[in-house]
Amino acid sequence: MSNLERVGVSLDKPLLAEFDKMIRVKGYANRSEAIRDLIRMALSEAALESPRAQGIGGVFLVYDHHASKLAEQLIQLQHTHLLQVIASVHVHLDHHHCLEVIILKGAVQEIRHLADKMASLKGVKLGKLTLTSVTNEH
Ligand code: NI
Repeated sequence: MSNLERVGVSLDKPLLAEFDKMIRVKGYANRSEAIRDLIRMALSEAALESPRAQGIGGVFLVYDHHASKLAEQLIQLQHTHLLQVIASVHVHLDHHHCLEVIILKGAVQEIRHLADKMASLKGVKLGKLTLTSVTNEH
């Protein structure tokens, strides 16, 4: 038995035209797929607002590896938060700069806290956290 339910949505024509244009550019096969993704994204964002939310975070850090003790401090932070850190990737960008992507899992509040700690270390030039919620549904 299908678990799908059809719904009808009324939209004004200019809004629908803009939407169709956007989903064409993004490469969606049809409106349904695009709308499903938008709903999932909205649900994920709403879930992240809960103080008890669990999630996955990707911390992007660009830093100068000549900065004294920075690499060591980053490693130390990861070792003291082993339950949160599930993977990390290091890329040597150029002579001075490194990119590190650290994937964290756990309570969203703790992820944000750890990401802030990393981003605020002296020598980190760019720190960015991308969060997504974890649900059973998708
Ligand atoms: Ni490097």
